[in-house]
This record gives sequence, C-alpha cells and structure tokens, in this order.
Amino acid sequence: MDAETLQAVSDAWMKHLVVVFPGQRITDQEHVAFTRHFGAPEIFHQTSLHLRSDRVREIFLVSNVDDQDRVMRPSEPSQKQLSSSRMWHTDSSYRPTPSVGSLLHGIEISRTGGITQFINMYMVYDDLPESLRRQVEGRKARHDFGMLARLVGSPPPTPEEQAAMPPVWHPMVRRHPVTGAKSLYISSIYNDAIEGLDDGAAAKLIEELTEFSSQPKYMYRHSWEPDDVLMWDNRCTVHAVTPHDPAERRVMHRTTIVGSEPVLAG
Ligand SMILES: [Fe+2]
Repeated sequence: MDAETLQAVSDAWMKHLVVVFPGQRITDQEHVAFTRHFGAPEIFHQTSLHLRSDRVREIFLVSNVDDQDRVMRPSEPSQKQLSSSRMWHTDSSYRPTPSVGSLLHGIEISRTGGITQFINMYMVYDDLPESLRRQVEGRKARHDFGMLARLVGSPPPTPEEQAAMPPVWHPMVRRHPVTGAKSLYISSIYNDAIEGLDDGAAAKLIEELTEFSSQPKYMYRHSWEPDDVLMWDNRCTVHAVTPHDPAERRVMHRTTIVGSEPVLAG
C-alpha cells in the first residue's frame, strides 16, 4: 500500500469509525501484513482455549470449526467464551494500553444471523443524559479479562494467564488521540468495577450506559458477505454480534492492533 492510499484509508477510518473492504481473498499473512500499517498486531495472551491460530499467531480465531474441520458444540469452552461477543464490548480493553482497532476477515460467514453491530460512542457521549454524564465524568472503570469466565461460565484463566493480564483501570470518558473527540469508554463484558461504587451499583451503571448506548440511532449493522474485511476503531466504538444457528459453519479471522499509549482521560 502506498503512502497516499494509506492516508486515504486512515482518513476514512477516523471519519467513519468502521471501514468495509469487500471481496478480500487474502491469506492470514496478508491480513497481518495489512494490519502492520496501523500498528503492531496483538498476540492473544490466552492459549488454553485454542482461540489463537497455531499457524499465524497474530490471528485470533472467531470460529466454530475445529482443527479436524468439525463444527463445535455451543457447550465447548471456546464457544462459550466466544458467546460473550453477543454482548457489547470493545476488544482487548483489559490491556494496560488497550487496542486501537481490529480487522475481521469473514471467511465462512453466517446466513442465519451473525450480524456485527457497532455503536458510535462519540455520539453516545455527546447525547448522554445529565444523570448519566455526572456519573462517568472523571471516573475510572476496571476492565478484567477474567470477567468473561464469570459471565459466560467458560473456564477461568489459568494462574499464568491471570498473572499476564491483571485487571486495569481506564477512564470512562476518553479523548481520541487522533480526532481529539471525547467518547464514552465502557466494555460490558470486561467491566467489573467502577471507582467509588459498590459492585451492585457499578453493575447497574454499566447496564444503564450499555442500554442507552445500544440505540439504533447510534448503530451500524453489518450483514456479512464472504471475504468482507471490516476494520473498526476500538477507541470510540463498541460492538456485538447477533446470534446465529450454531450448526452453521462460521469462520472468521481477526487481527487486533495493540495500543501504544495509555487511554487519555476526556
Ligand atoms: Fe469483539
């Protein structure tokens, strides 16, 4: 990609938050190489559930098909953990320098659901009712990877995985390092605590914020075609996938761009 094209893609990404590249018959290596234009690709820290590709370790597997080409049951640990993506979240927010964005390649896509929905969190922040705004300004929320297991009943992180990824605190209102605009920063599948609130009040506030955010007027819904690649900004969007028939094959490969700086308070 030449410098001019890269600038055009970056500008479109910052303006629209989600960019769709249709008809990309790319290899995992090409996927990773494209990702590197925007930052370092994350290597998923959890290895116990085989959600990381053995062949290309920068690839995170959003898939219900195993190495033997068998469709996995929803009760299998990896599928339980992936089911958390039906709830609103932003990828890798549990890292000390959370992800900048993600690129998802739809290899075998669902026709029975599996629509990926995105929320523009700039708009959400701008529209926040005063009662909610007061509760998030200047406040931090905790993001814990281990929350997933508590939420969906998947196996808890191993002691090594837990040690590699301790819970972190991030501002609930963040300023985008490129656009300078403020957005609400929550990730309902990882947020397990809020400064100054007891557990019940924290959970209630995250629920209220998530409910307010997930209004159709802030949403883009992507119905997949084979070989679509979606690139989204994890700093100012949240996303959630709609349910799909678990008997239908769904194979998607994701790269995640690692952040290079802590979250800027808004
Ligand atoms: Fe996600």
